[in-house]
Amino acid sequence: MSEKQLVAQAIAKALDGELSAEEILNLLENPKSKEHGDVAFPTFSLAKKFRKAPQMIAAELEEKLEKDAFENVEVAGAYLNFFLDKQKVSSATLSEIITLGEKYGQHEIGQNRKVPIDLSSPNIAKPFSMGHLRSTMIGNSLAKIYEKIGFVPVKINHLGDWGKQFGMLMTAYKKWGDKETVEKNPIQELLKLYVRVNAEAKQDEEIDAQGRAWFKRLEDGDPEAQELWSWFREESLVEFNRIYNKLGVEFDSLNGEAFYNDKMDEIVEILEEKNLLKESKGALLVDLEKYDLPPALIKKTDGATLYITRDLAAALYRKRTYDFYKVLYAVGNEQSNHFKQLKAVLAEMDFDWAKDIIHVPFGLITLGGKKLSTREGKVVLLEEVLDEADALALSQIEAKNPELANKEKIAHQVGTGAVIFHDLKNDRLNSFDFDLDEVVRFEGETGPYVQYTRARSMSILRKANFTLDVNVQYSLNDKDSWEVVKLLKQFPEIVVRAAEKYEPSVIAKHSIQIAQAFNKYYAQVRILDENEELPNRLALVHSVAVVLKESLRLLGVEAPDEM
Ligand code: ARG
Repeated sequence: MSEKQLVAQAIAKALDGELSAEEILNLLENPKSKEHGDVAFPTFSLAKKFRKAPQMIAAELEEKLEKDAFENVEVAGAYLNFFLDKQKVSSATLSEIITLGEKYGQHEIGQNRKVPIDLSSPNIAKPFSMGHLRSTMIGNSLAKIYEKIGFVPVKINHLGDWGKQFGMLMTAYKKWGDKETVEKNPIQELLKLYVRVNAEAKQDEEIDAQGRAWFKRLEDGDPEAQELWSWFREESLVEFNRIYNKLGVEFDSLNGEAFYNDKMDEIVEILEEKNLLKESKGALLVDLEKYDLPPALIKKTDGATLYITRDLAAALYRKRTYDFYKVLYAVGNEQSNHFKQLKAVLAEMDFDWAKDIIHVPFGLITLGGKKLSTREGKVVLLEEVLDEADALALSQIEAKNPELANKEKIAHQVGTGAVIFHDLKNDRLNSFDFDLDEVVRFEGETGPYVQYTRARSMSILRKANFTLDVNVQYSLNDKDSWEVVKLLKQFPEIVVRAAEKYEPSVIAKHSIQIAQAFNKYYAQVRILDENEELPNRLALVHSVAVVLKESLRLLGVEAPDEM
């Protein structure tokens, strides 16, 4: 039970049913200053109902309250200020963390229902952008968060592996390409070819026509076109996988756009059957005027299907395959209309699960003011960002802890972890610029700061060389530890809130708060002093280490024991 729920119950009891605990919960506040306790109840809004001055209501309520659960309850004007019983709360919280370990904060809300998550989804032969990085990290974190609350996530990389770009690429490869060069440096070479062919097609109609012809051959199953397609796809995947390995991300499915080639006819049939298709200049579309949306283009004049046609087929396939509770799409903000259209068309098709299609949009990241996706050769650039982050981390480790074993490995956990953490600590809809030096710093609101704090707690525990006893009730009573205990106690609710809002930043921000509170505690209190409180303090240190590690894990960031 949260602190507020505890207070709400006590007040409801004292009011003898005049207000429900639920109603009271909505009125409770967090006091601005710690002197006013842990939870405050303002009585202003009750004056009318009780025909009494708020001050009076507060005073009378205080007399009727059962105060067992609290250290103190004070009347301050129209407010009732509640001070929780530090001893009781810390004992309950620490013992829960010590018993459950990494399972602390776990829930069974999901009841093993499936939640497919569409994430990463880069386009073959086109650059892997910063947006794809965000999608990868947000999707990966949401998968872990949903798993923690009892769902079964299914991570689907909806690869952009079909479309006219392949025809263009084949044209370019046939004209200027060379097998060996591509094999050596696939993405970069393919990108070069892709950029060149598009530039030349602008000048020369003929090239564009050839591109379309090659794509037509591909759609018709021509063996040479097919072979080139699988080769481009395989080679690109080798490079993407290198990035995924660095990030520590794995997928359950690589079913991309091409997978739905033979699954779109059914969509068109259903749309026809339900009389939803309109013809416009030879193209087929679904009118979405009543949703205030532009029409969804299902088939072009030449019969080619579109991005949304594939997404319709994918949604139906996912519903059938996973019988999902809901399906999340971690895709940039700029595709909001696309997902509104997708939901609207599914709703028109009478699929009641259209409401369970959840677009999880995010803003744009820029690096030093530059939008990565406009730069050429940016796949390399993205990898370079991660490598540079690792190098920055290594130089800080060299300065702080030159004796450390496994420096390279830890520098990677810290450097790449810093980029991921930074990506996830901001509300996902914010667009933000990023400066690598800031991101990898060991101080400030960074990933390395949280990792460092956890490594510090591990080092304290190593020094103390102490074994916790699950049968002992550890508890603390002082002001400094109280701030830490309260944050640890919130963790299970924080996990649920992050899931409900599809917002890993809720967890990232909370982990920063824990780290800050703990470092304050560390500065105030001599943790390792030999006295009777030592085991209690060590139980707190242990609990901090557990919750920080688990917070980082949910974000997809590792937690080295030393750094
Ligand atoms: N490949 C697309 C892009 O790079 C993203 C695909 C997102 N997923 C989806 N099911 N539409 O823009």
